[in-house]
Amino acid sequence: MRPARRMATMPQSGTLRMLDVAKRLEREGRDIIHMEVGEPDFDTPEHIKRAAEEALARGVTKYTPSAGTPELREAIAEHLTTKGIPAAPKEVLVTPGAKHAIFCAMAAALDPSDEVLIPSPCWTYEGIALTAGAKPTYIEMTQADEFRLKVGDVQEKLTQRTRMLVLNYPNNPTGATMTKDDLSALADLAADHELWVLSDEIYDCLVYDGKHASIASLPGMHERTIYINGFSKAYAMTGWRLGYAAAPAELTAEMVKIQQASTSCPTSFVQAAGVAALRGPQDCVERMREEYHRRRDVIVEGLNSIDGFECVKPKGAFYAFPSIGGLEIKSLELCEYLLREAGVAAVPGSEFGPYGEGHVRFSYATSMEKIERALERIETAVARL
Ligand SMILES: Cc1ncc(COP(=O)(O)O)c(C=O)c1O
Repeated sequence: MRPARRMATMPQSGTLRMLDVAKRLEREGRDIIHMEVGEPDFDTPEHIKRAAEEALARGVTKYTPSAGTPELREAIAEHLTTKGIPAAPKEVLVTPGAKHAIFCAMAAALDPSDEVLIPSPCWTYEGIALTAGAKPTYIEMTQADEFRLKVGDVQEKLTQRTRMLVLNYPNNPTGATMTKDDLSALADLAADHELWVLSDEIYDCLVYDGKHASIASLPGMHERTIYINGFSKAYAMTGWRLGYAAAPAELTAEMVKIQQASTSCPTSFVQAAGVAALRGPQDCVERMREEYHRRRDVIVEGLNSIDGFECVKPKGAFYAFPSIGGLEIKSLELCEYLLREAGVAAVPGSEFGPYGEGHVRFSYATSMEKIERALERIETAVARL
């Protein structure tokens, strides 16, 4: 017996692979500083945990409607409206994590062989697009442009089969953000070429310079934007698995069918916690953002002081993505070396699409003390290269 042919091109998550190796070394007694995984080191705020406990105590333990509970869909729609993103509750699909929202979106919006434009360096959209039967096409973003996507570069990759443009700002892995003007030009292009725009804004609460701009809020974009967000990063809820999509009602109805065919619905009491997250106090989000901001400044300055690294200041998210051009070593080799010699786990740029090589991603969603210790270890190890 053999697996499906499409599995031959299906990538593995490089981040999770590095995490596995780092965990194995830890089991062998090594002291590892984890900067590979994009997971907040903060605990989920107490009032959110309490809401889940109370829901469990009330017996909220059964299936919910496939698209999510009416309370949470309403809370999400209201939350988006305050951000200038028009969304009615019926246009919201609640999912077990933002990743599943992206899966539902691509599976519902794309036909086999449709092309999806993915700006790279990029997070793991490729595997999701391939599962949906679509064809990823990459657009290069460069450090010289602060990893912003330029409309001319998108234009060059358009073909008759292009159906979707993926945007992810603030970006994983680069931390880049886009201005409203940048996005307006892309919005015009999407309208001219009848493209879906899948806008993954899961880091929208983590912006350090300027203000987050969403393409979904621009005129004419409501009908073609599939907006993605979730609770993992803003509310430190990675393990709860809660995310959502907002899209035109007709597409949302199709995405609900994908959810019905895959997971039925998100976890009931987790959705109650989601309502508490959105309707409750938001100062927890701001406190975490301020701490990431402090850490960003320390890690960027630290990396730039190490010979061979050059790091532009990421404006958002919680990753530093320095160029390692000065070291004359492949990113995978450097990450293996840093793990072995310095006990620091990071992700090679080669894991972020065809244009990630020449960089390494360090997550600074870890304590300041660990960041400072990691920088010292990296400097010592790199000096011995
Ligand atoms: C850009 C981006 N989108 C989506 C996700 C998925 O988030 P979730 O935990 O909600 O599935 C991640 C997680 O790392 C991410 O970095």
